Amino acid sequence: MTDITSTPGNTDWFVKDRFGLFIHWGLYSLPARHEWVKQYEQITDSAYETYFRHFDPDLYEPELWAKAAANAGMKYFVVTTKHHEGFCLWDTKLTDYKAPNTPASRDLLQPMVDAFRAENLKVGIYHSLIDWHHPEFVIDDLHSQRNHPDRATLNEKRSQERYAEYLHGQVRELLTDFGKIDILWFDYSYPSKVGWIGKGRADWQSEKLYDMVRKLQPDVILDDRLDLPEGWDVKTPEQFQPRDWIEVGGQKVVWEACQTFSGSWGYHRDEASWKSLDQLVQMLIDTVSKGGNLLLNVGPTGRGEFDSRALDRLNGLGDWMKRHSRSIYGCTQAPPEYKTPQDCRLTYNPDTNRLYLHVLAWPFVHLHLDGFAGKVEYAQLLNDASEVKMEGIADWQAGHEIKRENTLTLTLPVHKPNVTVPVVELFLK
Ligand code: GLC
Repeated sequence: MTDITSTPGNTDWFVKDRFGLFIHWGLYSLPARHEWVKQYEQITDSAYETYFRHFDPDLYEPELWAKAAANAGMKYFVVTTKHHEGFCLWDTKLTDYKAPNTPASRDLLQPMVDAFRAENLKVGIYHSLIDWHHPEFVIDDLHSQRNHPDRATLNEKRSQERYAEYLHGQVRELLTDFGKIDILWFDYSYPSKVGWIGKGRADWQSEKLYDMVRKLQPDVILDDRLDLPEGWDVKTPEQFQPRDWIEVGGQKVVWEACQTFSGSWGYHRDEASWKSLDQLVQMLIDTVSKGGNLLLNVGPTGRGEFDSRALDRLNGLGDWMKRHSRSIYGCTQAPPEYKTPQDCRLTYNPDTNRLYLHVLAWPFVHLHLDGFAGKVEYAQLLNDASEVKMEGIADWQAGHEIKRENTLTLTLPVHKPNVTVPVVELFLK
């Protein structure tokens, strides 16, 4: 894939593996109404303390999470070591605001990393640049305390520099104490605008942080949210599907869409906007057809489980992936001469020279592939390896058709195969 901008981190495995699990887990799983609840509802530190005192994930078995992810066909995971609320999942030496000091009374990160590694998933760490709990973090216009009557006085005692030191120290721990880290996901920068105070690279000391990251884990894949123009490895569109391969300065880049099941990243009890299995499978396919990765999120409950809605979807994805992962792993956008037919998505494996035709709406018997004539050696349904004939429409029918150049016509069964999205595997000559 020579036409893609090359970057310092090792993305070779990443652009082949394509599918990962995002995990948002923290104190916000208890209010269970969005991981931004502290900010949305402007909850004070002392009121939010309730969740710290009650955080007791007694059913936490990271082996089950890792199995669910592996079974869904996911090849890597990224977990929130700390989200914007400031609570840390691991036994950091730099704050008391951590899992071992809650009723959980243990480091929750190490066993998770071990469990996912045991299932052969690569390890990604999400770490929030934002911190609505740390006493040195200068209150800005995004902060949960933004409307505090004494904001100015509070800020006089705060030092963003000392916060940056804390941030760097924690990142050093994360990149030193947990073995090889494959992905590092900082979140996020929101530079000041006229009339609005935010934070960016000067506040995080991003350049210095960047140098440390590359020194400690030279191969790590770094996301693009440090507010640095260069140095990142992956673009991270969030909660929407790009219409095309993402480009920067007219050059294709490595990219990964991150998506939720229902809208919130943290466990949300009452959200009704859960995506269907169909939508999720199509989302994965659509992403790979544009040369991207999909990072799909689960927000575990406060008791430490994936809830039944999440497991349902992961199982469904696994069921589809079991028979169709060949059209995902190692695949990318199809070469431009192969035009995507109506209601379809194409992916392509350059190593095996096979095209994968994902049929999103099952047509009646004939599927016309413009530009494919003479290029396909054999075609089969991927779910059951049954042959798909390439005989075209009969002469007596063809009279009604406008003649098109280079069309290959597949003959499909009348009934859609009993899978979420059927795939035709095309062996190119
Ligand atoms: C965001 C949000 C957030 C979530 C994330 C995932 O910017 O602040 O809560 O963690 O992106 O991409």
